[in-house]
Amino acid sequence: MCGIVGAVAQRNVEGILLEGLKRLEYRGYDSAGMAVLSGDGRLQRSRAVGKVAALEACLAAEPMTGHCGIAHTRWATHGRPTEDNAHPHLSGERLAVVHNGIIENHEVLREELVAAGYRFTSQTDTEVVAHLIDRDYRHSQDLLSAVQSSLARLEGAYALAVVHADEPDVVIGARQGSPLVVGVGIDEAFIGSDPLALLQVTDRFIYLQEGDLVRLADGGRIDVYDTSGRTVEREVDTFEHGDGAASKGEYRHFMLKEIHEQPAVIAAALEGRLGDSAVLVESFGPEARALFERVQQIHIVACGTSYHAGLVARYWLERYAGVPVQVEVASEYRYRQVVVPEGTLFVTLSQSGETADTLAALRFAREKGYLASLAICNVPGSSLVRESDLTLMTQAGPEIGVASTKAFTTQLAALMLLTLALGRSHGLDEAIQSELVNALRGLPRLVERVLALDEGIEALSTGFAEKHHALFLGRGAHFPIALEGALKLKEISYIHAEAYPAGELKHGPLALVDSEMPVIAVAPNDELLDKLKSNLQEVRARGGELYVFADEQVSLAEEPGIRVLHLPHVHEALAPLLYTLPLQLLSYHVAVLKGTDVDQPRNLAKSVTVE
Ligand code: AGP
Repeated sequence: MCGIVGAVAQRNVEGILLEGLKRLEYRGYDSAGMAVLSGDGRLQRSRAVGKVAALEACLAAEPMTGHCGIAHTRWATHGRPTEDNAHPHLSGERLAVVHNGIIENHEVLREELVAAGYRFTSQTDTEVVAHLIDRDYRHSQDLLSAVQSSLARLEGAYALAVVHADEPDVVIGARQGSPLVVGVGIDEAFIGSDPLALLQVTDRFIYLQEGDLVRLADGGRIDVYDTSGRTVEREVDTFEHGDGAASKGEYRHFMLKEIHEQPAVIAAALEGRLGDSAVLVESFGPEARALFERVQQIHIVACGTSYHAGLVARYWLERYAGVPVQVEVASEYRYRQVVVPEGTLFVTLSQSGETADTLAALRFAREKGYLASLAICNVPGSSLVRESDLTLMTQAGPEIGVASTKAFTTQLAALMLLTLALGRSHGLDEAIQSELVNALRGLPRLVERVLALDEGIEALSTGFAEKHHALFLGRGAHFPIALEGALKLKEISYIHAEAYPAGELKHGPLALVDSEMPVIAVAPNDELLDKLKSNLQEVRARGGELYVFADEQVSLAEEPGIRVLHLPHVHEALAPLLYTLPLQLLSYHVAVLKGTDVDQPRNLAKSVTVE
């Protein structure tokens, strides 16, 4: 989604803003732009369609200088990705705005502003914000109060940054429904859509809260105002993941780097949360123990890959904690008449903690009488974390590749911790708890062993490069793994992929199977294995090309039309964590073969902050 950077610095900000935009590229965008206030009170602006490199080329031809500026990567919502629609948007020659989010009442405001004599040059919803602030500024002659009064007119979601040539050392930022952080420098101040954008200049951040407005000024002055306009103190946090997260290191793509980080981040997700033979329930917060005893049902709500993690957890929670679970995508849940039985725990899953639908679902749930809300999330300080009663951080570190990999497996690790924590208060046999805790401890090593099979997986990928469709099959908790495998393949290789519970094959999708349809199956050694094998025979009988990821203890031999890759044996409950890895690698290699933009696939954004 759109990315914002802003700076009031002692040095020329062009380089800081440009580097910030490069660091935000992973969020997904289709045009970029920058506005810098020069020392002599001029507003300079440059915009380009396409990659940040195109903007960089414009800036190389016509550099900007100044100590104060804002910049933006745009992911088109209102209006095509053209230069006219790219941000910053100006009102006159002196005011510039960048915006992430959607202004829902932009049409009404546009009419009002047109009637007041403003001329629009773009199709965006953002341009109304620029003119609205300009109109209020003409009365107040004060940028802060002009932004405050204009924001009161906006409906929808936004993070925005504003500069005005009359106040050449000031950037105003605001957030409502879209993320924005303040970077605290030494005599300098910055804003960005996330800390990664600013790690080249600071590792200290203020995570703005909903409705906050911030004024950055000369000398590093930072004033934060809440919705009532009062000055408020917000905590300054130190970013702990280091700047390495923002570089690919030895890897060709962030996605590959993040796939290979999984042994370490899964270990980090478990660290300090496992006792000798049981999960430490306090990992979920001091009040978790008493609260979990009262849980009678669970509703899990999430989007995309995080939703798939929730689907896996349903199998675990019902089996080991004996608690009924409902899992739903947030965009559906938030508009439904939900019935909430007494004692229901509301769980959200999100890598970013800023996904608009998931956040809206949490806010909707607050009115529904849930026992409590729990967020399983990867970004400390994110909106979801701040607004939930309990939290468990997944500790995956920043994930840059749009296709979620390590965020998914750490979510699964966290969900297994939740299963065991709830199992503890719901009478799960102590021997089973101990067995699963031991299995969890051994998991990072097993993940390493699966990743070591990469060469074999790469060899399989050649069978997909010319294909247009693929079918993924799994049973039980591996049906969601098949769904996740299909999502990975489609989002980065643009091959149409679908996933089915293998038992559903003969109820329709079998009609699609022929030699042009590769069928990928995950076959761990569990109670459903024999049934899965019968389903695979159905595929072979119709000439389908099978790719099977199977437990090393499963006797499945390669033969014409069946490629088999054996995975190390793993405790049945943890198999979903392991079997997702070859599917990640397979998608990655297919995408590389097809030459797609692996880390920033077309049309997609990393953090979906609009509905
Ligand atoms: C998956 O590869 C995608 N990045 C996407 O489905 C993602 O999981 C979804 O948008 C939810 O994001 P979140 O986990 O940050 O809420």
